[in-house]
Amino acid sequence: MDTQQTRGDPAEPNTNCNGPSTMAEKIAVIRACESMKPEDERICFDPYALHFLDPGTRQALLRNSGAFRYILAQIENQLPGISGALVARVRCFDEFVQQSTNTGYGQIIILGAGYDTRAYRMDDLKTIRVFEVDHPDTIRVKVEKIRKIFGTLPNQVTYVPADLEEDGLELKLADRGYDPTCRTLFLMEGLVMYLSPAAVDRIFSFTVKNSPKGSSVLFDYCPEDDGTGSGAGWASVRSATAFVSRQGEPLRSCVPGSIRDFLTTRGFAGIRNMTGADLRQAYFTGKNRGRTISELYSIASASVGTQTCTVGEEP
Ligand SMILES: C[S@@+](CC[C@H](N)C(=O)[O-])C[C@H]1O[C@@H](n2cnc3c(N)ncnc32)[C@H](O)[C@@H]1O
Repeated sequence: MDTQQTRGDPAEPNTNCNGPSTMAEKIAVIRACESMKPEDERICFDPYALHFLDPGTRQALLRNSGAFRYILAQIENQLPGISGALVARVRCFDEFVQQSTNTGYGQIIILGAGYDTRAYRMDDLKTIRVFEVDHPDTIRVKVEKIRKIFGTLPNQVTYVPADLEEDGLELKLADRGYDPTCRTLFLMEGLVMYLSPAAVDRIFSFTVKNSPKGSSVLFDYCPEDDGTGSGAGWASVRSATAFVSRQGEPLRSCVPGSIRDFLTTRGFAGIRNMTGADLRQAYFTGKNRGRTISELYSIASASVGTQTCTVGEEP
């Protein structure tokens, strides 16, 4: 096990285990604000994010047409580059899912789903079995909100309350109909860094042992902070780390050294990686040219034991 802890502290407890995730809501605020921008300006679009906000923020956004810009400016002031990094991450995951769904995945597992709305807003996901896994209290709030938005729960989505720090994911998924023989896409957006290194290892081991070749993982992670990072992107990394700790959801692990080594030693191939700088180049064009992006995390994808199925794989 070589997941390391130079950023964050694996011993620092997640104090939000007994309530819905604060970070899931804060991220929904950024998605909601970005989605209120004109089409040619926004990086991502989530029409349901508004429903997951506290009533005060939601009302402010609905009543005042400039409130979304004010909120984004405040966040940018406090945590430079974080909203840029988050919306680029959503866009990158959306594009990956869109490209992947025509390639024959039979099920999608969203670990640390929080208030992710892909299963409800992406047409391609309406015909694939989706499992959303998160802490019981966050799942409870999610289910309440989805029922309120749509009047009912969609048939294709299965909610799996689970603490990923504990053993037993295999059983919990199996109980709810997860099929280990079916080619599977595992999504972990904004999750890996919040888990202890042991939990991260258990999850990657689970994916390799419980899904067939050609299954894939897509996740973001914190590269190791060796203290040499410089520039605007890195300047915000330390303040973001302190911010999430104050929310009771500290960063607990990062990936040391090369992501390629990290994934190949765990049985993955077809590895693709995007840093903050890569995301900026891919998405921050036109009106977003010059928008700041934190280098807090990178995004990687890889396939279970084969070179054949990852989108844009490196040689
Ligand atoms: C930063 S939020 C990201 C939510 C969502 N994926 C998104 O991008 O909007 C992290 C999510 O991981 C969940 N999480 C963190 N630790 C967890 C654990 N030990 N077990 C289950 N879920 C966990 C939190 O409850 C939260 O919903």
